[in-house]
Amino acid sequence: MIVLGVESSCDETGLALYDTQRGLLSHALHSQVAMHEEYGGVVPELASRDHIRRAIPLLEQALAKAGIGAAEIDAIAYTQGPGLAGALLVGSAIACSLGMALDKPVLGVHHLEGHLLSPLLASEPPQFPFVALLVSGGHTQLMRVDGVGQYALLGETLDDAAGEAFDKSAKLLGLGYPGGPAISRLAEFGDPLAYKLPRPMLHSKDLMFSFSGLKTAVLTVVNNQGGAANVCEQDKANIARGFVDAIVDVLTAKCLSAMRQTGLKRLVIAGGVGANAQLRAALNAAAAAKRFKVYYPELEFCTDNGAMIAFAGAMRLQINPQAAQRDYAFNVRPRWPLDELRVI
Ligand code: KG4
Ligand code: ZN
Repeated sequence: MIVLGVESSCDETGLALYDTQRGLLSHALHSQVAMHEEYGGVVPELASRDHIRRAIPLLEQALAKAGIGAAEIDAIAYTQGPGLAGALLVGSAIACSLGMALDKPVLGVHHLEGHLLSPLLASEPPQFPFVALLVSGGHTQLMRVDGVGQYALLGETLDDAAGEAFDKSAKLLGLGYPGGPAISRLAEFGDPLAYKLPRPMLHSKDLMFSFSGLKTAVLTVVNNQGGAANVCEQDKANIARGFVDAIVDVLTAKCLSAMRQTGLKRLVIAGGVGANAQLRAALNAAAAAKRFKVYYPELEFCTDNGAMIAFAGAMRLQINPQAAQRDYAFNVRPRWPLDELRVI
């Protein structure tokens, strides 16, 4: 079975073809980062319009790379939520129109389920069950994953998501958008002893997170120096280092608690922040010390992409072929808790 995946929940348009026999056939991606950069963040209306422009050329690219025709697609999976309503509507409309034109069934997929299952696309995929840390721009959650569609929420953030904290703190330091990669690179040159920033909820004994205080701590340090324009490059790097060390400490400690609580031996990291080099180094060291294994998606599948949506759709259809429908009426779910998902 060949499944076309369509991702358009935020600022990346992704189209991909996954074959349940042969694996990922191809994927094509367009990132809108350059377009949103001058505004310092995603402009939803611009995002929607760009998805409209990009989707069909990306589909053609994905089909050409896979060497197949559109008629060979068996089903179409699209991101139904959560995400920006307008952006989701574009992907849903394109997926359902294609489904109708090609007479193929369509299936709405949860964006976070895509992230959660993305490490299974790697050459050495984890077995179920595992603990998953989902760290993206909009979410920070620890989940217990027993199989496709079997997710139990262990803990989540009370306020900002980890990626959001990266982006907002980077903005406070006058770095570009998205801030995650920029602040992470700058932190490499920072002095770890210069700023000891707070580690919110590190000792809360539960698996909840809170990052808005950390962002405020960065704001206070920057304000104390009269604003980002007055902070010299070395001090910016020192603040970046203080921020990254704090967030990595909290994420690592909570992952360790989740491994202890569940008794599981596999930890999966998913979502854009999972690309972070400092987080990966800390988790690898913790895993070696505590004798569990940590799995990451391929770097290109950490941030938003169509491959994870095609894959999640294919997994769902293998379990329940009735999950895809042919009435082509669609609705989107900009807010959609992952633990509401059930396979059948
Ligand atoms: O999963 P994703 O592409 O989109 C959402 O579903 O939100 O994640 C995007 C987030 C952004 O906040 C971005 O700054 C962060 O992931 N990110 C990183 C890195 N690469 C992306 N954060 C820290 N270090 C990175 N290397
Ligand atoms: Zn995402």
